[in-house]
Amino acid sequence: MKHLLKLQDLSRREITEILDLADQLKYEKKNGIAHPHLAGKTLGMIFQKSSTRTRVSFEVGMYQLGGSALFLSPRDLQIGRGEPIQDTARVLSRYLDGIMIRTFEQAEVEALAEYGSIPIINGLTDYAHPCQVLADLMTIREYKGRTDGLKLCFVGDGNNMANSLIAGGILMGMEVAIACPKGYEPDTALMAWARENGKFTCTEDVISAARDADVLYTDVWASMGQEDEKAIREAAFQGYQINDDVMAVARADAMVMHCLPAHRDEEITAKVFEAHANEIFDEAENRLHAQKAVLVKLMK
Ligand code: CP
Ligand code: NVA
Repeated sequence: MKHLLKLQDLSRREITEILDLADQLKYEKKNGIAHPHLAGKTLGMIFQKSSTRTRVSFEVGMYQLGGSALFLSPRDLQIGRGEPIQDTARVLSRYLDGIMIRTFEQAEVEALAEYGSIPIINGLTDYAHPCQVLADLMTIREYKGRTDGLKLCFVGDGNNMANSLIAGGILMGMEVAIACPKGYEPDTALMAWARENGKFTCTEDVISAARDADVLYTDVWASMGQEDEKAIREAAFQGYQINDDVMAVARADAMVMHCLPAHRDEEITAKVFEAHANEIFDEAENRLHAQKAVLVKLMK
């Protein structure tokens, strides 16, 4: 594994190795055992969109691993004035040991990897959010002890989260059911891959998708960069919500997950969110541990 661009680039074995290492690093951190695997190494972090979790967990993760992290905003970089990503990649490769990038186009992340000579980590694009789903899989293993045979239901937009959950869920032996309004389906090629490689469905019917689910997952109706579509999306997504009716058809011990930030009483009711706050904030914490495992795998 040279980069983390999207989950379908990884094998089940590679994902399992990351999750096992993440469990170990979490244990070591909780027990005061230092793990300076990346002493002297520097991660550059390019953010073209806002972030709370990704920014803080990557920066803190690098410090805990004995290295350092540089926050690079497009306002400061020449990228913001039009310097091509291909040139930026080749220059930054001479200074840094790895780059984490959050941006719009998946192609930009792929170009960084193609032209640079250091590991590139996708910290979210419009297409994928692999770091989040590694933390999600880690959390599912913590709560359920396994991923194989579990049913994961995602309710909402067929966005970056849906795409990465499909890839990660199918690779880890889960059944994946997506419920989304017509016109907001996940990536077509990825859905075809999922149908060939596992148990996958995509429907407009939330209740049928959620039936017997072990894990219920949702995300915002309008993602970063879609602020102009907010009103149209609010209308289109009415009913695409994790609420008591949805919980009633899922398994009695179903987990509820959300990548955050959450919009209460839009994609999830405040009641369901608070009832499952433990899972949701363990999931947020696990961003730190899962990403530290990715950093060690790629940069050590
Ligand atoms: N879930 C997630 O990536 O959060 P941030 O946008 O705050 O980084
Ligand atoms: N789909 C959301 C995820 C945020 C972590 C977005 O792209 O804004």
